Amino acid sequence: MTEHENKTAKLLVHLGITRPEELTALFADLRGRFDADCACAQDETSWKQFRDAWLGRKSGVLTQITDNWLKPAGAELKRAVGAALNELRAHVESRIEARRLAIESGSEESALARERVDLSLPGVIRPIGSHHLIRQVFQEIEDIFFSIGFSIVEGPEIETPYYNFEALNIPEFHPVRDDMDTFYLELPKGAKPPLLLRTHTSPMQIRTMEKQKPPVRVIVPGKVYRRDNPDATHSFAFHQIEGLAVDTDITFCDFTGTIEYFVKQFFGPSVKTRFRPSYFPFTEPSVEFDVSCPFCGGTGTSTASRSPMETSASGTCSKCKGAAWIELFGAGMVDPAVYGFVNYDAKKVSGFAFGIGIDRLAMLKYGIDDIQVFFQNDVRFLRQFP
Ligand code: PHE
Repeated sequence: MTEHENKTAKLLVHLGITRPEELTALFADLRGRFDADCACAQDETSWKQFRDAWLGRKSGVLTQITDNWLKPAGAELKRAVGAALNELRAHVESRIEARRLAIESGSEESALARERVDLSLPGVIRPIGSHHLIRQVFQEIEDIFFSIGFSIVEGPEIETPYYNFEALNIPEFHPVRDDMDTFYLELPKGAKPPLLLRTHTSPMQIRTMEKQKPPVRVIVPGKVYRRDNPDATHSFAFHQIEGLAVDTDITFCDFTGTIEYFVKQFFGPSVKTRFRPSYFPFTEPSVEFDVSCPFCGGTGTSTASRSPMETSASGTCSKCKGAAWIELFGAGMVDPAVYGFVNYDAKKVSGFAFGIGIDRLAMLKYGIDDIQVFFQNDVRFLRQFP
């Protein structure tokens, strides 16, 4: 209990005060105590207690003064008490309000300080994935062809026999269909047309030419399917990039020049290319492109190879198995018969097409000996190609 509380609980007569002059010291003392107490109200709770102690209706100091000092006082004293009380009330009220504002802004500041984001903290590291090696090789090849004016198109993996075979000059009973053991979809009885998983990306040659008049220069990256038993070099799903260029004046030279440019960009400038006659129903003439083995410098032996990994104990290059050449992909000049399916004038246009097997290329370039790892999604493999 502080002294002023005691005093305000008593009547003025009991304090021995009978004349107005004697009030001055009394009120000055009260005011001093108020100021001291006020500084102690540092937070909302203590401020509320402080406010109630002074302004509380029932037993606040000001109420006590009114009840014990003002009301019982005689006329002369009453006027003086009233004036002093008013002055004190004005002081108390304004200081209490000022204190409230100070506490409020102070608590805002401390809340801000508490909630401030510390940008120097290390942060949450979320693991992000990386491109699958196959996608990376796609990208590499796309970039090369993109840089010489090809655009990239994609097509459906579920195809009709028309696009996968017939329009590519492969009629229903053509023996070449045997080369591509095909997955047919099980459809409700009588459903037409039959559907299959495309066995190559070549159907997009047809779809592109149906949509677009020459000049055409596209590549088609994608997944293809053939019924094969899985082993180190076979998978029922694999990847190809189809290429097609058709215009009014495309020659065999443009064709070989383009392929050579691609191969040198992909394997390095020192490789050589060669082509051998081959057969595809939708190209004529058809060729098989080879590249001089980039790993043994086209020697077939281990002596010129770049690393011990690429050689076998016997002294032959393990990549080309001593052949000095590596078979790369099939290609050819577009067979005029194909133009008939897309309403191109075979007398006016010419072009070339190629189909690159991505998995084999990736295996060669990155020294991978089992195609199955591309499909197993084992992160220990994937992480080696970030
Ligand atoms: N589509 C052929 C295959 O998958 C490859 C190819 C494409 C050949 C384009 C010639 C022209 O075997």
